[in-house]
Amino acid sequence: METRVLAPTEAAIAEAARIIRGGGLVAFPTETVYGLGADALNGNAVQKIFEAKGRPGDNPLIVHVATPEAAQPLCYIDERAQTLMRAFWPGPLTLLLPKKLVIPSQTNAGLPSVAVRMPNHPVALALLRACGVPVAAPSANVSGRPSPTTAGHVLQDMDGRIPLILDGGPCAVGLESTVLDMTAETPVIVRPGGVTREMLLAVLPRVDVAASVLRPLAEGEKAVSPGMMYRHYAPKGALTLVMGKPDDVRATCLKLYREAMESQEKACILTHSEHALWYEGCDTLSIGSLAQPETVARELFSALRAMDDRQVRVILCEAVDTDGIGLAIMNRLYRAAAFCVLEV
Ligand code: TXA
Ligand code: MG
Repeated sequence: METRVLAPTEAAIAEAARIIRGGGLVAFPTETVYGLGADALNGNAVQKIFEAKGRPGDNPLIVHVATPEAAQPLCYIDERAQTLMRAFWPGPLTLLLPKKLVIPSQTNAGLPSVAVRMPNHPVALALLRACGVPVAAPSANVSGRPSPTTAGHVLQDMDGRIPLILDGGPCAVGLESTVLDMTAETPVIVRPGGVTREMLLAVLPRVDVAASVLRPLAEGEKAVSPGMMYRHYAPKGALTLVMGKPDDVRATCLKLYREAMESQEKACILTHSEHALWYEGCDTLSIGSLAQPETVARELFSALRAMDDRQVRVILCEAVDTDGIGLAIMNRLYRAAAFCVLEV
């Protein structure tokens, strides 16, 4: 199958909507990452997403809607959820709510809940309106790879597997949406993202964070969000996450880098722009500014993909603080590192 990449003109969006209504797949930009969309109410169409991504069938998808009203036929929305939709939609907040009967089991992996979100991107919203159906869309990467934040990333993973990619340029947030479980008494963040815990607490009296956000699942423990079980966001090289006092982090990264050089393994240090002079003579890549963690969120997946492009085997990455968007950054880094973390 030939994969076309089109600028998001009216005609291209109309064609994308025709493909989705006809049971096919289209990759499209959102403010978080690129999504791989299919008609959420058509189980056969949704099945194609799992095939294109190589995604385990027990990992449910997020259903995207053009308006908060469009979520009403899909799930039971209580007053708390309504408040959140008013405060954060369109935006990077996905709500897990009790599902209604129209949701085919392929879309939500047969769970009692369904994930819904209204994205904040003009192309995504125009596409959703043109489709006239809710669109199930996971990130448009091959399962396990870092999520795509440009149309080029999508093409790397999906070339030949899907007919069309709408190119809306780089994504503004760069990490996937916050997934908030609204089916429990206290809402629980099962995946941190662009809407931070601090932002949610401005609207809700209590918000918990699932324990598995910053640690591996214990043996036998069930993931609230099945996507958090798998090795994820992972570059092909081995990533070590280094945290501690700045001087110690620097010394450790330098030491590990030299060790890799001695054993003739290609290494790279993922650092912050403020530390540009710390690692003279080493191969480095900046993941953004410590003082502006939003830049790290935006750059991270691109940097992880660059490690594969450069065939780096040993990746050393400086940790960030876990407040605000930092919680989402560290959640992705822990998984990219397969929990190989050095506290120095
Ligand atoms: O920003 C985003 O959320 C992007 C864009 C395309 O909207 N989408 C995205 O989808 O990241 P995906 O499939 O890569 O991640 C969805 C996450 C997974 O961890 C999945 O397990 C969880 O949400 N999830 C979806 N439905 C769920 C449900 N009913 N119960 C528990 N977890 C659910
Ligand atoms: Mg994903």
